Amino acid sequence: MIYSIVPMTKKHIPEVAQIEQDTFPIPWSAEMFDNELRHDYTVYFVAENITDKSVLGYAGMWHIVNEGQIANIAVRDDARGQGIGTSLINRLIRTARQREMMGLTLEVSINNRNAQRLYTKLGFKPEGIRKGYYETGEDAIIMWVYLRCV
Ligand SMILES: CC(C)(COP(=O)(O)OP(=O)(O)OC[C@H]1O[C@@H](n2cnc3c(N)ncnc32)[C@H](O)[C@@H]1OP(=O)(O)O)[C@@H](O)C(=O)NCCC(=O)NCCS
Repeated sequence: MIYSIVPMTKKHIPEVAQIEQDTFPIPWSAEMFDNELRHDYTVYFVAENITDKSVLGYAGMWHIVNEGQIANIAVRDDARGQGIGTSLINRLIRTARQREMMGLTLEVSINNRNAQRLYTKLGFKPEGIRKGYYETGEDAIIMWVYLRCV
């Protein structure tokens, strides 16, 4: 699959919301993504199929003071396992470096081994637990990757 990582715009939202709905038990709505794009502290990218311009995945973070908080990432079911998740997180890390953030953090379900492997591969380390963080009642692992000393 040949794709490029580009900033998310309004035109991507219907497909992003569909992937979100197909992926998560309590999905964000199209309106929520639309709202995200209106804030200047948010950074969202999509992986866009070069051939037909369809959305293969998306990831976003919030730039809060000097750190990045990854808000969301998902790859379309039929496009997983091909490096797209890695490319999306790497793009967020590159943006974080350009903005001289000191690090990036995220929460991942204690049961989501695939995502944990992805983050570990990219240098994230577990730093704590949030009990019952998800609306499903699952605990979250807090992970961090540090990019520069402050
Ligand atoms: C997690 C997710 C974004 C990964 O996207 P992806 O494009 O499939 O990931 P990649 O192909 O870049 O794989 C990156 C690494 O993740 C891990 N991984 C991903 N899918 C895996 C699987 N099915 N089995 C085992 N490891 C897996 C591996 O370590 C892999 O690296 P490797 O191929 O060098 O071993 C994707 O599986 C997804 O959308 N999952 C549902 C949504 C989700 O869980 N989001 C995270 C919420 S915190």
